[in-house]
Amino acid sequence: MQGDFRKIGGDNSYLSVFDTKFSYICEEIRKPPFNGRIYSRVFLASLANFATENLRQLRAYILKLPLKYFMKLTHVLAFVTALPLAQAPVFAGDGSIRPGEIWPDNTGVHINAHGGGVLAHDGKYYWYGEHKSDHTSSALVGVTCYSSDNLSDWTNCGVALKVVDTEGHDLERGCVLERPKVVYNALTGKYVMWFHLELKGKGYAAARYGVATADNPEGPFTYLRSGRVLPGIYPENMSLAERREAAALPRLASDPWAEAWSEPWRSDVRLGMFNARDIVSGQMARDMTVFVDDDGKAYHIFSSEENLTLVIAELSADYTSHTGRYIRVAPGDQNEAPAIFKKDGTYWMITSGCTGWDPNEARMYSATSIWGPWTRHKNPCRGPKAELTFGGQSTYILNVPGTDNFIFMADIWRPKHPSDARYVWLPISWADGKPTVEWQQEWKPGEL
Ligand code: GAL
Repeated sequence: MQGDFRKIGGDNSYLSVFDTKFSYICEEIRKPPFNGRIYSRVFLASLANFATENLRQLRAYILKLPLKYFMKLTHVLAFVTALPLAQAPVFAGDGSIRPGEIWPDNTGVHINAHGGGVLAHDGKYYWYGEHKSDHTSSALVGVTCYSSDNLSDWTNCGVALKVVDTEGHDLERGCVLERPKVVYNALTGKYVMWFHLELKGKGYAAARYGVATADNPEGPFTYLRSGRVLPGIYPENMSLAERREAAALPRLASDPWAEAWSEPWRSDVRLGMFNARDIVSGQMARDMTVFVDDDGKAYHIFSSEENLTLVIAELSADYTSHTGRYIRVAPGDQNEAPAIFKKDGTYWMITSGCTGWDPNEARMYSATSIWGPWTRHKNPCRGPKAELTFGGQSTYILNVPGTDNFIFMADIWRPKHPSDARYVWLPISWADGKPTVEWQQEWKPGEL
């Protein structure tokens, strides 16, 4: 079906935005009752780039769609009548953020930057994220970049880090490239991107970090390398005796997963069974973020040890490698999706549990030194679906420069239609000295 439809498009930009537009249309017409929504701002914007000729062909195409796409025959008629009217100017935002809704960029297409983060630099914001396709969560394009002056209206700056077609390359098209974060390094003047990389065809077994640099925020980023973290190096927060004890684990069967999730197994995990297992190869690195402290030091924070334990690892002065200093955080707590910020000398980290693409209850940790100790707190979310992080999973917390305002960012994943995943951005408020994330249907960053 899509194959046929692609032929209608004449130019590349049309082709590249087509899949998302088509999905809007199908989604809208499948929603009962099919009504005024179809004329909504978003829908019109989604058709904004269609030339009249394309609209005519789209109409002909829709008429040939099987009836199952429509709730009633009248819907087909209403839709087809609406099409010629559907030429709106390119989307212009109103300064609002509407969590969970379609978020059109400057061309009217839903922003495609998932699991991402925002770099605030030289008075501008740059949003980097995973480009998701319609039918797979694997990376077919790379890391996208959008820019903005106000955090609500975003200009598509294209693909900042591209996957490649060389067979066997770490970034081969079809690999898994997740949760990219970009930081600016003042010493080198370079933009440094860290991400989670899984090699093509290997599922989630590689568990590597990846790193790339660029001279401009929009890229192009040059890939440097990927790997496990700090082979041969022990965490700072394990004493010599604890390291020896961990090396002697598991105390269970020879297969450490044989009695997985039993209390003795959990205890072995906490004691460092998987850290010890991976000492030679280096520690696993999956869901991740990068945090730059107010003294300019940067840290790579990631899910390690089979996603059971978080690691905070210090980065070199140029932010492109690890120094060797790292700690294990919340061993055995099974945290993913770390997002962190610092206010008045306290570090706050919001994470998720580990349920794949399905949402779960957010967790929160705090510490007065990045090196811990880290204390666990309750779920910071408040409002409808707060126990499921509003349907999302944390990805980043942005400190609005020059202010004490922080914005919590999460992804509502749609694994069956990955490009249609949504964003939940909400301001952080405070209650009893602790951060809270309160649901709002709509808010304006300009009014923070
Ligand atoms: C999530 C993780 C995502 C992605 C997904 C794959 O838990 O946060 O980034 O890796 O699992 O199932």
